[in-house]
Amino acid sequence: MSNPTSARPPAMVLVGVGGYLPERIVTNDDLSKVMDTSDEWIASRTGIRERRVAAEGQTSLHLAVEAGREALKATNDGRTDVDALVLATMTPDRLCPATAPDVAAELGLGHIPAFDVSAVCSGFVYAAATAQGLIAAGTAQRVLIIGTEVMSSFLNPEDRNTAVIFGDGAGAVVVRAGEPDEPGAFGPFDLGADGGGSDLITVNGFGGRTPPEPTRENTDDDYLFMAGREVYRQAIPAMAESSRVALAARGWELGDLDAVIGHQANVRILDAVCRELGIDTSISFVNLDKVGNTSGASIPLAMTHAHQQGFTTAGQRVLLTAFGAGLTWGSGTLIWPELPEMPA
Ligand code: ACO
Repeated sequence: MSNPTSARPPAMVLVGVGGYLPERIVTNDDLSKVMDTSDEWIASRTGIRERRVAAEGQTSLHLAVEAGREALKATNDGRTDVDALVLATMTPDRLCPATAPDVAAELGLGHIPAFDVSAVCSGFVYAAATAQGLIAAGTAQRVLIIGTEVMSSFLNPEDRNTAVIFGDGAGAVVVRAGEPDEPGAFGPFDLGADGGGSDLITVNGFGGRTPPEPTRENTDDDYLFMAGREVYRQAIPAMAESSRVALAARGWELGDLDAVIGHQANVRILDAVCRELGIDTSISFVNLDKVGNTSGASIPLAMTHAHQQGFTTAGQRVLLTAFGAGLTWGSGTLIWPELPEMPA
């Protein structure tokens, strides 16, 4: 008779990726016409050349549905069903309820558990770790994990510190229960948070600190604020250390890595993390030149683009790492699986 206490919990295995970008492209030159900035400043300080901006009325829900649909129809086992949805966003459609149940309903997923995770730019890594827990506990067998953001709805169009950085988009992955060493298997995640830095990136409006008042006018509190230089300073050591912890938990050496898919905040941060870890920047995937910083959507969108561009191939050892508001950070590993070809 099998002993249930000695059974290994199932691993979480990647079976599909998908992404969605709104049609409207805003270039650095476009921004330099409406604020005091330049393509030269933005590109040299961040690596960003253009970003996508959602259409009027297009919300995180709409982007999530498109990305989720693409991931579900492109799984390597041909299955389109899931029994849980975990959604990362800092730009939910509403403060209440969460955006995930609406997404599940729009996708026709039935009455599966569906909830939002709020960890800003680390949101996808937190959501993936949560999905891994659901699978390990036996609560779910197949999970759709989505990162979706309409950052433009929280950007002050006159604040050049943030307006040039962020973009809109959504990315999604489908995972299932499986074996720890099979292609697609994720290792243990490393997660961390430091509320001591919570004031460095904020949207102060819409929460309990600023409850609704019928007469209140829009204020700076309603827009995203970011102390960019301080965040930059803290992001590099935190992502490097978290990456080391996630690699050690998997029993991998830095030299084992074939690809790094980091949160697309700034190419200088991605390069500095590689330098700090002593790995070649050529294995670090970059799509922020085309999409900007899409916060919680950044890593699943980068995973999708890395697959579409052939940057990641089956059998590769891949590191995911993120840092963002909270402050929060997180890293994880996976063996890249064979995935159906997707047009770029
Ligand atoms: N165009 C032109 N000049 C600008 C712009 C702009 N868009 N923005 C700032 N400047 C000026 C500043 O006024 C300043 O001028 P001064 O020297 O005369 O005072 C100068 O450029 C330098 O400004 P800094 O803010 O110090 O620029 P920095 O080199 O730090 O780059 C940036 C800013 C790109 C935001 C960088 O700090 C960064 O990437 N930070 C990390 C962002 C991040 O990782 N966020 C985490 C995830 S986000 C999330 O969780 C929502």
